[in-house]
Amino acid sequence: MDLQLKDKVIIVTGGSKGIGLGIVESLIKEGAIPVIITRNKESIDEVMQTYEESGEELFAVVAELTVPEQCKNAVQTVVDKYGRIDGLVNNAGVNDSVGLENGNYEDFMQSLKRNVVHYYLMAQYALPELKKSKGSIVNIGSKTADTGQGGTSGYAASNGGRNALTREWAVELLPYSIRVNAVIVAECYTPLYEKWISTFADKEEKLEAITKNIPFEKRMTTAEEIGDTVAFLLSSKSSHTTGQLLYVDGGYTHLDRALE
Ligand SMILES: NC(=O)c1ccc[n+]([C@@H]2O[C@H](COP(=O)([O-])OP(=O)(O)OC[C@H]3O[C@@H](n4cnc5c(N)ncnc54)[C@H](O)[C@@H]3O)[C@@H](O)[C@H]2O)c1
Repeated sequence: MDLQLKDKVIIVTGGSKGIGLGIVESLIKEGAIPVIITRNKESIDEVMQTYEESGEELFAVVAELTVPEQCKNAVQTVVDKYGRIDGLVNNAGVNDSVGLENGNYEDFMQSLKRNVVHYYLMAQYALPELKKSKGSIVNIGSKTADTGQGGTSGYAASNGGRNALTREWAVELLPYSIRVNAVIVAECYTPLYEKWISTFADKEEKLEAITKNIPFEKRMTTAEEIGDTVAFLLSSKSSHTTGQLLYVDGGYTHLDRALE
């Protein structure tokens, strides 16, 4: 299926690693121009080198997204370069273990800044261009908004916020024909996931306990599977889909717990 994303300029926050990189790779396959906005200069250089060698067009801006001014400047840099923005994928974030018992006011507020405040800022700064292009927004979310995880209040609250903002913006942006959807992830093996799983004494045992509970094929979701769904939601092939939370999780969040 041709998703008709050729030459569309799509911002992907946190796009040089993990799920973000999966999204960037799917967009490249569709001929879009992904723009990575992230803080890791080194990982940007790696990705840029890989794709520039094969003649693909992509662009990147270094920014620490917890700093509002850097979000604003990053969006302006994209507009200066391309004169348009056709899509925004809010993806950067971190499961930072700020819990009820092991956190405080400052930690909690910082977690919201790491995980949901820049979703709002990026949408706000990109909005004038999205209005012109009748672009589309996809927010990446986590199952923790539905299931909880324990010990991670800031991250869970942020993911609840990501879901609510998806619905809220879908409504607010109806007059501009801007669609807003979310892709919810449960278990996808990425650098962030690797860091989290390494906090357990027996990482392999924990990994096995998790994967055996993933109903579809007893395996983790790949970043490519998330990327392909995001590309579809950004494209005109989903032209009447808005305000939806799409769970790309092998049935992990909703299917029968008693499944063997
Ligand atoms: N991996 C999973 O299983 C999983 C599950 C549910 C939800 N998610 C969500 O997916 C998103 C991506 O997760 P991932 O596993 O690919 O993570 P990751 O750590 O592998 O990659 C995220 C990238 O975003 C960058 N980033 C994070 N915060 C940033 C900031 N403040 N400013 C600039 N760059 C920043 C990181 O440096 C990194 O390059 C997160 O929002 C997370 O909530 C992941």
